[in-house]
Amino acid sequence: MQGSGRIAIDGPAGSGKSTVGEQLARHLEYLYIDTGAMYRALAWLAGHEGIDVNDGAALGTLAQHAEIEIKRPMIADGRQYTVTVRGRDVTWDIRSSGVTRAVSPVSAHPEVRSVLIARQRAMAQEGCVVMVGRDIGAVVLPDAELKIYLMASLQERARRRHAELLERLGEHNPTLPSLSEVADDIRRRDGIDHDNMQPAQDAIVIETDTLSVQQVLETIYTYVEDTDETGTQS
Ligand code: DC
Repeated sequence: MQGSGRIAIDGPAGSGKSTVGEQLARHLEYLYIDTGAMYRALAWLAGHEGIDVNDGAALGTLAQHAEIEIKRPMIADGRQYTVTVRGRDVTWDIRSSGVTRAVSPVSAHPEVRSVLIARQRAMAQEGCVVMVGRDIGAVVLPDAELKIYLMASLQERARRRHAELLERLGEHNPTLPSLSEVADDIRRRDGIDHDNMQPAQDAIVIETDTLSVQQVLETIYTYVEDTDETGTQS
C-alpha cells in the first residue's frame, strides 16, 4: 500500500493498539495519530477548568476551543508523541488516574465526539496515517484502505496495562494500582465505551491473547501488502 494510505486500528483498552499502531506507522513511515490522546487531552482540560464530566454542552464548546495538537515526539523520554493543549505540553498529564477516570464519560457525549471526529478526519487528510482508537474504521474513516480490530481477553488486557504501569511507575510507587484494580478499571471503561466501540463490518479482527507484538505486526504487514490504494484486498 503506497500513496494516500489510511490505516484504522481499533480495539478496547489494553488490546495493544497503541503499541502496534506506533510501530506500524514507524515501519511504513506514516503519521501515527492516537485519537484516545485527544479525548484524554479534553478530559484533562475539563478538569483544569472545573467543567463537569456530565455537562455535554459545555464539553462540546470546550472541545471547539481546546486547541489540541498531536505532534511527533520532540523529547526522548519514552513518549510516542507530544500532545499539547493551548500550547502546553500535557503528554504525561493525560495518563494520570484522574484523567483515565474522567475520559470515558467525557468521550461519551455526542457534542464532544462530533467536534473531535471532524478534527480527526481533517488530520487524516494530511497524508498517510495510522489512526488508532475505538471507532476509526466504523465512523471516523469508513473508507480507510485497511481496517484492523484488535481483541484480547479482559484478563490479558489488565495484565498488559499493569505491566506498563509497573515499568513506568516502579514497583515501590504508592500510586501503582494492583492488577485487580487495573482489571476493574478496564471493565468499567469497557462498559461506558461500549456504544462507541464497534468493529467496522469490513475490519480484519485479530485476537491477540496468544500473540506477541511482533506477531501481530507481521499479520498486519501481510494485509498491508495485499491492499491497494482503493482498499481492495488482492
Ligand atoms: O485508548 P485510550 O484508553 O487512551 O482512550 C481513552 C478514552 O477515549 C477511552 O475511554 C475511550 C475514548 N475514545 C473514544 O471514545 N474514541 C476513540 N476513537 C478513542 C478513544
